[in-house]
Amino acid sequence: MTAPATSNLLSPRPACDPATELDARFRAAIRAVTGTDADPQIRPSGNAKFGDFQVNAAMALAKERSTNPRALAEEILKSADLAGIAEKCEVAGPGFINVTLARACTESCLAKLAASATLGVPAPSDPHAVVVDLCGVNVAKQMHVGHLRATIIGDSLARVFERLGRKVWRENHLGDWGLPIAMTLAKLVRDRADFQRLSLDDLNHAYRGAQKETSTADLDAAYEFHCGPHRIAEFEIQYEPARAAMDDAKKTLVRLQSGDQEIVRLWERLIEVTMEQVYEAARTLNVKIGPENNRGESFFRDRLGGVVEAFTKSGLAKSDRGAMVVPFADRERPLLIQKSDGGFLYATTDLAAVRFRTFELDGSLVVYVVDARQRDHFKDVFDAARMIGWNKTADGAESTLVHLGFGAVLGPDKKPLKTRSGENFTLKDLLDEACERGTAEVMRRAADPASPTHGLSQTELAKIGAAVGIAAVKYADLSGDLTKDYVFDLDRMIAFEGDTGPYLQYAHARIASILAKSGESAAAIDAAPFALGEPAEKALALHLLRYAQMTLDVGRSLETNRVGLYLRTLAELFNAFYQSCPVLKADDAATRLARLRLCAITRSILADGLSLYGIIAPDRM
Ligand code: ARG
Repeated sequence: MTAPATSNLLSPRPACDPATELDARFRAAIRAVTGTDADPQIRPSGNAKFGDFQVNAAMALAKERSTNPRALAEEILKSADLAGIAEKCEVAGPGFINVTLARACTESCLAKLAASATLGVPAPSDPHAVVVDLCGVNVAKQMHVGHLRATIIGDSLARVFERLGRKVWRENHLGDWGLPIAMTLAKLVRDRADFQRLSLDDLNHAYRGAQKETSTADLDAAYEFHCGPHRIAEFEIQYEPARAAMDDAKKTLVRLQSGDQEIVRLWERLIEVTMEQVYEAARTLNVKIGPENNRGESFFRDRLGGVVEAFTKSGLAKSDRGAMVVPFADRERPLLIQKSDGGFLYATTDLAAVRFRTFELDGSLVVYVVDARQRDHFKDVFDAARMIGWNKTADGAESTLVHLGFGAVLGPDKKPLKTRSGENFTLKDLLDEACERGTAEVMRRAADPASPTHGLSQTELAKIGAAVGIAAVKYADLSGDLTKDYVFDLDRMIAFEGDTGPYLQYAHARIASILAKSGESAAAIDAAPFALGEPAEKALALHLLRYAQMTLDVGRSLETNRVGLYLRTLAELFNAFYQSCPVLKADDAATRLARLRLCAITRSILADGLSLYGIIAPDRM
């Protein structure tokens, strides 16, 4: 995935990360030697044998100056003040500087991390908000698997930006306005539907029925292909009812648009019925969206005329056979913003929404988590918005507009997901199955008398099982390249081993049970000094110290898979530590407490990392 640059402001650096301090010290040394301010290029060392970090800048700097890189590295190293930070530093290879941290430095960084309420994440340097366009369901339609991705990915990014201390707006741009909805509404009224008892299935049915009833496809084709007056007359009679239904729908739309109370009340009911399923799915998925996030197409209805006017006045839009279009310099196809009959389009609404999000919500970053197939739409909308200058916050800061176009969810046959009976999978089917499978797995394990879940009630097991099932689905969705299609394979996703959500939940629960078994109070553990004597302890600690930087990197790149990768490595480093360093049976009380503290902080970071995916981390599994 190509990383979109999402911020024009330099990210602050995490104070508890030793790389931050190394960066400052080597930057000063480079300035002293070369007189320039250059990035020292501090990287975690590829091999712990050579050190903990390497400083890579000398090679490029020497090239610019046509000097010897090793000699330059030696000079930089000589003038670097590394007191209290490094215990060993040496120039190696073509001109790297290998740095081994002083144990006291790692320990004090870890203490800082443990004391930090934000797990080391620094306060944001950008005071503006982040807007995440997510979910985007359509009224009167079943929520499908694509909306699952828009919801899960959007919520996860929102959580990341919340962790980064940003003000976040989750915007659910519902398809709740326009002719198709009026058609559905008109059909329900014609059919004398009981609006108090409507189900989503009824809405769906009416939606499809209305589409069919108003279709004049054959007649339109007869005209287009000049089928002759006789045939056309025949079709005209046949399509009388379709014409009438369409007229009815258009009248309903006018009543809706003019705020007719009766129709508006019925329309609100359609939204209510549609949204019930969304809120239910959100609860199951542990996704934070509710009515407060609904700002659908209807919200922008009174601003559409203003959009066209603004583009016309600024000379960016022109009339084309009665319609209004925005031409682009670099492509043939213009953006249609008003039809010749005066109607507005999806793009007009999105232009109004861009302006609202940057100017009124103060978003310096607006991320649209929408199906990759809408790429052209967003390219046009963003380009048009930039042309008119709507990519600016109220105080004039530049806003970055990003379409995060995600791939499709496929069945095992690599085709769009279907149920066993061959129908399109609804979201509910899928979530129900995931929760059932998770519960079955948790119950199977609980039958083992040695399992920490043995003896828990059925209700408790079902709760853990649902958390496992949902973790499986979310992790699979978020831990890959978001732009790619992926195969939905519950068997693989739900396994407790391998690259899965349940594996990480299990790692977390294991640490929780070690802490519980220790019999020590949280206060006693938190007060213990860290003691990183063993290589496995140090390796684990260094990875923990990278958590804040990883989170910053996700905010910058929007690559949610970095979280999964980080957590998997964390679980592996923890396993290696636990194997080589006895915790509960440590040699002395001080070591035992120090190791328990390392367990405790690993557990906090694992839980926090999982929460960036909105995955619940049970204490027992
Ligand atoms: N309702 C749209 C659909 O189902 C998605 C809306 C995405 N957001 C936006 N601002 N256009 O395709």
